[in-house]
Amino acid sequence: MGNMSKRKLISGASIALAGGVLTAAAGLASAQTAADIVLGEGIHPESIAATPDGGLLIGSIALNSVYRAAPGATTAEPWITTGLIDGGLVLGVFAAGDTAYVCAGGPFGSNVAFLLTFDLATAAETGRYELPGGGLCNDIAVGSDGTAYVSDTSPVGRLLALAPGASELTVVVADEAIAGIDGIAFIGDELYANDVTTGDLYRIDIAGGTYTTLTLSRPLQGPDGMRTTVDGTALLVTENAGGTLDLLTIEGDAVTVETIQDGFTQATGVAQIGNIAYVVEARFDVLFNPAAPPVGVFSAKAVPLPADAAAAPAAPAAAAAPAAPAAEDPAAVMAALMTDGQRLYVAQCQACHGDQGQGGIGFALVNSPVVSRAGATINQIIQGYPNHGMPEFGSRLNNAQIAAISTYIRNSWGNAYGVVTPAMVGQVRPQ
Ligand code: HEC
Repeated sequence: MGNMSKRKLISGASIALAGGVLTAAAGLASAQTAADIVLGEGIHPESIAATPDGGLLIGSIALNSVYRAAPGATTAEPWITTGLIDGGLVLGVFAAGDTAYVCAGGPFGSNVAFLLTFDLATAAETGRYELPGGGLCNDIAVGSDGTAYVSDTSPVGRLLALAPGASELTVVVADEAIAGIDGIAFIGDELYANDVTTGDLYRIDIAGGTYTTLTLSRPLQGPDGMRTTVDGTALLVTENAGGTLDLLTIEGDAVTVETIQDGFTQATGVAQIGNIAYVVEARFDVLFNPAAPPVGVFSAKAVPLPADAAAAPAAPAAAAAPAAPAAEDPAAVMAALMTDGQRLYVAQCQACHGDQGQGGIGFALVNSPVVSRAGATINQIIQGYPNHGMPEFGSRLNNAQIAAISTYIRNSWGNAYGVVTPAMVGQVRPQ
């Protein structure tokens, strides 16, 4: 399951095809790939957050603890395992400055909820703030002035605040109409909140204690985890019920929802490091169903963000810009990639995927949900799927070669999904 094992499974000689072409190009590129982060069994991760040093915090709802992955690590280790709420559960985690924030509650339905703070360097608890009147501390965001905000997903529907140095949480907004308030995140000084019950996205007027319901380009099904993109201009959202990771760009009261990846099961949390989004799935379906078989090893799933998403332009790209003189003619770029891509495909891929992309040992590449997404295609080629019979090519092909093959398979045999440039591969794997 974990990518750690993938590399081991594939040795230079393990797959004999194409007369050693696979090994001929070895060493062209360093294999810095977007690996999933292995968490372990029984974790049921509900929330994930980036730490300022480029690592991750993960909240385990089932084990009532917080895990931490060091920068670049492919596994997370238990970090805070005691001193939470006895018999309770951890929901949101967040990190800002030198502080880790944790939403710690009693068992579901207990109405006991705390925001806890810890020193990121030492894991020592530095603060304990009970939600006034109880509630469900769900997720956290910290503003530029250091004020921490907490969503209270309970019948009273609240957003609470903890100012720097304050000893208790105060109510910013309380409205039973937003009882489903869940993920919260800032763009600049604007705070946004999603609603896991209604699917709405709100902009909160912190000073006025009111909120505005924004207009979505498509409905969200159970929006849950929400974080600001690393460039600070857009939102990454996981749809718990919809099973997707989305990028939301906001213009006034209008929100453009772009699906980045689908197929998740109860995706409840997301965090971004570099150009990779890490998605966690809490799997309440299994957690609360004693008859269900266990999930096995949980991981934070790495999703390479497309270049446009990682850059996250504030305004929709200038699609209608008329014939501006381009540095390079896109048609010529495409043609060159197609020529190289075909040659590489025949040598590296055709034996398993067929001369028409019809599949064979490997899946069909025509109408493939992976091939339709640039990031997923790049990732599939870099990482392969060794325990299912596809070797990794990350250590054998450079970014230009991966771009060429990706472009070729995405635009042949009836596929028409557009170009993949070496720069796009570079977003997934700097070399
Ligand atoms: C030794 C056989 C083999 C070779 C060589 C191979 N693949 Fe694969 N490929 C597979 C198998 C098997 C799968 C299915 C893996 C799985 O279970 O998800 C697969 C899956 C894929 C998928 C995902 C398709 C989908 O819809 O899930 C893509 C894309 C892909 N391969 C592209 C390539 C490209 C491009 C190359 C050449 C650089 C290549 N493969 C070389 C065996 C191979």
